Amino acid sequence: MGGNRAVAYMGPGKVEIQEIDYPDLVLRDGPGVNPLNVGRKCHHGVILKVVTTNICGSDQHMVRGRTTAPEGLILGHEITGEVIECGRDVEFMKVGDLVSVPFNIACGRCRACKERDTHICLNVNPDRPGSAYGYVDMGGWVGGQSEYVMVPYADFQLLKFPDKDQAMAKIHDLTMLSDIFPTGFHGAYSAGVGPGRSVYIAGAGPVGLAAAHSAQLLGASVVIVGDLIQERLDQAKSFGCETINLRDHDDVGEQIEQILGTPEVDCAVDAVGFEASAHGANKGEAPATVLNSIMQLTRAGGKLGIPGLYVTGDPGGVDEDAKEGTLKIRLGLGWAKAHTFVTGQTPVMRYHRELMNSILSGRAQIAKAVNATVISLDEAPTGYQQFDKGASKKFVIDPHGMLK
Ligand SMILES: NC(=O)c1ccc[n+]([C@@H]2O[C@H](COP(=O)([O-])OP(=O)(O)OC[C@H]3O[C@@H](n4cnc5c(N)ncnc54)[C@H](O)[C@@H]3O)[C@@H](O)[C@H]2O)c1
Ligand SMILES: [Zn+2]
Ligand SMILES: [Zn+2]
Repeated sequence: MGGNRAVAYMGPGKVEIQEIDYPDLVLRDGPGVNPLNVGRKCHHGVILKVVTTNICGSDQHMVRGRTTAPEGLILGHEITGEVIECGRDVEFMKVGDLVSVPFNIACGRCRACKERDTHICLNVNPDRPGSAYGYVDMGGWVGGQSEYVMVPYADFQLLKFPDKDQAMAKIHDLTMLSDIFPTGFHGAYSAGVGPGRSVYIAGAGPVGLAAAHSAQLLGASVVIVGDLIQERLDQAKSFGCETINLRDHDDVGEQIEQILGTPEVDCAVDAVGFEASAHGANKGEAPATVLNSIMQLTRAGGKLGIPGLYVTGDPGGVDEDAKEGTLKIRLGLGWAKAHTFVTGQTPVMRYHRELMNSILSGRAQIAKAVNATVISLDEAPTGYQQFDKGASKKFVIDPHGMLK
């Protein structure tokens, strides 16, 4: 073996394929690696041959230059792979297992992990609770948009697919278990979606579409999706959602009233985050738009699921406040309506096993909902460009050509 190829962030708007070291069971120094993590031994880890690894809106925040990600950072936190080497302390995973990797890195040993809060593990990132592969300020764990990757704490973290042939037949769906299916589900679930409830989902990117499909699985009566990109709204419509084009209509309440007969919904999900556009044509960026509008639109006592990402530092922020993640949010309104806000990374492990079973039984059709589109590793830079332009596709990188 010896070689490895990976997608590297090389400055705003630029990603390229680079030759990097073949991984071993230690976290070595490199771009973005926290000094306190350098040399960290991972006898509890495995080496995976990457079967699929997806491009995410979260990667785009970095690639657009909207974070402090350093050049040379190897990207990729949505990883599905085959175990090809096990560390000394791995007991239950075996070479040959086909597994989904939760994008959060979690030790399984700290207080947060013991409480199933694997999105805020206390032991994997010296800077703050919570970590992920290939991500800025997340400890420096090398990303998985590559041929091979090291995954620590393997026994605790990995979700093994029960049957390899069955899994390869459903791999376009199963690849969504590392992040966006659990994330969309978490958004809908934490917004209180249940039988007969109405839900508004801001954003028709892959996370918004995954939230919409999840809301259907949870029994919502009406799922309304808003975005400014018609192609993405058409995708939402293709599996039964109502849609609102926010470029043409800046009053979302009025549009919701036309659909439901009342300007309020029971539940709302923010699947947009801090790069939100103001409603209306060419009004530019307004980072608090979605948070303020979902407080307006959600009934008193409702819950707001907020998987959309908000940052503590944004070099491209619209003003000095936005540059440090301070947004003009009308919290008084949310308080008056006794809203619940659920934010943060998704605790993937709370959901991925059950969602896998929904996929394997044929109940969940997540690949279809998000328009999974397979590309090679060399096509990744083009995939990033198309995704940035708003293509209604969830790009799935197939680094070894195993899906052909
Ligand atoms: N919490 C988590 O663990 C987690 C996991 C994955 C992704 N995310 C975050 O979820 C968000 C969505 O991810 P994605 O991959 O779908 O990204 P994306 O960029 O493809 O989708 C965002 C969509 O929001 C639309 N949009 C912009 N302003 C809007 C507005 N005011 N109202 C409605 N829609 C608007 C955009 O046109 C775009 O289609 C990102 O912020 C991403 O970082 C969070
Ligand atoms: Zn992701
Ligand atoms: Zn932990």
